[in-house]
This record gives sequence, structure tokens and C-alpha cells, in this order.
Amino acid sequence: MSPRAIPAGPIVAPSILSADFARFDRELAIIDPRSDWAHCDVMDNHFVPNLTFGPLIVGAARKLTEAFLDVHLMIQHPERLLDAFGKAGADQLTIHVEAEHDTDVDSVLRAIRAAGMRAGLAIKPRTPLAAAEPHLDAIDLLLVMTVEPGFGGQAFMSDMVAKVREASQWRAARGAAWRLQVDGGIAPDTAKVCAAAGADVFVAGSAIFRAPRPIEALAALRQAVAGDS
Ligand code: DX5
Ligand code: ZN
Repeated sequence: MSPRAIPAGPIVAPSILSADFARFDRELAIIDPRSDWAHCDVMDNHFVPNLTFGPLIVGAARKLTEAFLDVHLMIQHPERLLDAFGKAGADQLTIHVEAEHDTDVDSVLRAIRAAGMRAGLAIKPRTPLAAAEPHLDAIDLLLVMTVEPGFGGQAFMSDMVAKVREASQWRAARGAAWRLQVDGGIAPDTAKVCAAAGADVFVAGSAIFRAPRPIEALAALRQAVAGDS
């Protein structure tokens, strides 16, 4: 499998957590593979209290869309499932720095890359940015959570904006190329605030799939982060 091209500009990543799985194909169809990512929230009822889906559903998404599959692993011991998600067709796996791992976090990130995927690292709201610093050379994406992971539909934590700004400054200082993602409570207004702070990948679940007109809601988000609305 050749790696999917990554758009250079801002990316909106609709989170299928808020989609209607009884009409999964039609929900996925609103995602434009040329510009958007499909964000897949995997939860294990251990690292977070919620339980969602695993490689089986990621594999189903792979059959239904050409979009880049951005898989957010809110699970303990993600290293034990890397191959399964790779075979399912994931393009990127993001692990949490706070999760339990059999080995050190850097080794897991490198194993993701060795399996042909991009490697992301996520930090929860109460985790300082410093926890990610030792791993910045091993990542393709840093995810700054803007809600406590576990559920869609929560309110954006505006005190995370400073963390996004600091991460963006770190990236500039290092001349690094990793993407800076925000996830949780993202709608056009909060996405704009995060974009101004330096974020360039915007996960949104309820703001898209729970909107009366999801296609228009997705378009509004794209426009908000492009800075021309
Ligand atoms: C939360 C998940 C998010 C979730 C966001 O733990 O990581 O990706 O889908 O949902 P909204 O956009 O509704 O806050
Ligand atoms: Zn997520």
C-alpha cells in the first residue's frame, strides 16, 4: 500500500464516533478524500470509560472511502494491535503518552512507522506538553486533546489554547514537520481559535454528524480553518 498524500494546508477530520453506524456508507461519503481525513476513535473501556470499535470497523471504513484513515487509539497497550490496524488499512495511528505500553513510547512510535503508517502522539488535557517532548523526533502528528478523551459532544476546553500555541512554537523552533491536531469540542468558532494558535488538523464529530445538514457543517469548518470566512 503506498502512503496517501497529505494536504499541505489545514485538514478537517470528521470523527465517525458521532456518525450513524446504521448508515455508515452514507456518513463516510461526505468526507472528501482529497482534503479531509476520516478520524476513527478506538476506545477500550480501560484507558477511557467508553467502548467503541477496533480493526473490524476500520477495515469496513477502508472499503467505503479513499480518505486518509486517522486512527486515534484511546487504549492500553496499543502496540499489541498495530499489525491488526495496519492490515485493516489505517494510514496513521495515534497513541496516548499516558497509556500503558509493553515497551517505551518511542519504540511504539517507531514500530508504527515500521509497519508503514504515520505515527501520532496524543496528550490529555491535564498532561503537560513536556510529557511529549522526548518523543517529538519520532512523531508525524501531535494531538492536543481539547476535551477529556472518552466521549463526543463535550465542551471545548479553552484553557488548552495556550498548550496548542506552545506546541506550535516548539515546532517552529525545531523546524519540525509534524502536524498539530486538536480534538474535542471543535466547531467553526473554536476551530478558528485553534488555527490562530497554530493547529492545522481539526477533528470534529458532533459539529458535523449531529448537525442538521452535515455536508454544510463540514464545509463551514473547512472554510473556518482556511481563514476566509
Ligand atoms: C473524544 C474523541 C473525539 C470525539 C470528538 O474522546 O477523541 O474524537 O469524536 O467529538 P466532538 O467533536 O463531538 O467533541
Ligand atoms: Zn479522537
